[in-house]
Amino acid sequence: MFKLTAKALVCAVSLGIAGWAQAADPILIKFSHVVADSTPKGQGALLFKKMVEEDKVLNGRVQVQVYPNSSLFGDGKEMEALLLGDVQMIAPSLAKFGQYTKKLQIFDLPFLFDDINAVDRFQNGPAGQALLKSMENNGITGLGYWHNGMKQLSANKALHEPKDARGLKFRVQASEVLEEQFKALKANARKMSFSEVYQGLQTGVVNGAENPWSNIASQKFYEVQKYITESNHGVLDYMLITNTKFWNGLPDDVRAELEKIVTEVTKEVNNEAAALNAKAKQQVVDAKTSEIIELTPEERAQWVDAMKPVWKEFEGDIGADLIEAAQAANKAQ
Ligand code: LMR
Repeated sequence: MFKLTAKALVCAVSLGIAGWAQAADPILIKFSHVVADSTPKGQGALLFKKMVEEDKVLNGRVQVQVYPNSSLFGDGKEMEALLLGDVQMIAPSLAKFGQYTKKLQIFDLPFLFDDINAVDRFQNGPAGQALLKSMENNGITGLGYWHNGMKQLSANKALHEPKDARGLKFRVQASEVLEEQFKALKANARKMSFSEVYQGLQTGVVNGAENPWSNIASQKFYEVQKYITESNHGVLDYMLITNTKFWNGLPDDVRAELEKIVTEVTKEVNNEAAALNAKAKQQVVDAKTSEIIELTPEERAQWVDAMKPVWKEFEGDIGADLIEAAQAANKAQ
């Protein structure tokens, strides 16, 4: 029979303890983002943390730390941090992936989607789902799409018609499509990190911007923008992403449970986003610092005519088939 010597026993026990200590060390997921807790993305990150940490199957094996408001990494740095393993999850706006794929530029095309429901249908269809996996060669795995909402134009000047924007400087996210969108209005576009926008608007470095209501309200952009045109001219949504190597390296049961939680959180974020934006709009209305401009159908048609030519410039990079699939999503099945 196999007998343990005293030395071997000590060794086996200490190895056992080391193994146990290792198993007890939770897997840490740092989730960094650039917006406020009150926004759809902010709420989604917090819900993910709560669900992971209360999950019976995971049983404390995964811990989540959420860093909102660019407190850990801001725009431009968060993607690099994900690739370096300094954070494990981020959810950048779909406008911020230009370095990794040109296909996601589709989401920036002005007046492509009629509303957020059309965006939802496209994201959940085969073309949208395939895009989640399109950056794995770069080490980025898409886990889902999270809505924020449709963008509104704001400025220190009333924007009723495209000619009103002529010569103004607009802050844009890091997206070539969005730059061209403003150039099509004979306006200037300036790429700027989200955390710098308030000051940029306040000091006049830029005169205007485009944001969903949740960002306008939570960043208090209404304090420094006299006019907000309810243009709904484009979408600002997110891709929840993780580091492919990190994700594939997780124990199978942990990854499967996290995927289940991500699916539930995604559903919840996407169900709640419209209500959060409606609440945010009311906050802006109540603040009474900006005039909210509603477009007549004729005025809206002018904005469409002015901005839509931008599609042609990017059709080659994005693919006409993808643009067609997005347009098809405008019709409810
Ligand atoms: C922006 O830079 O305006 C947005 O992408 C910020 C965000 O994450 O909603």
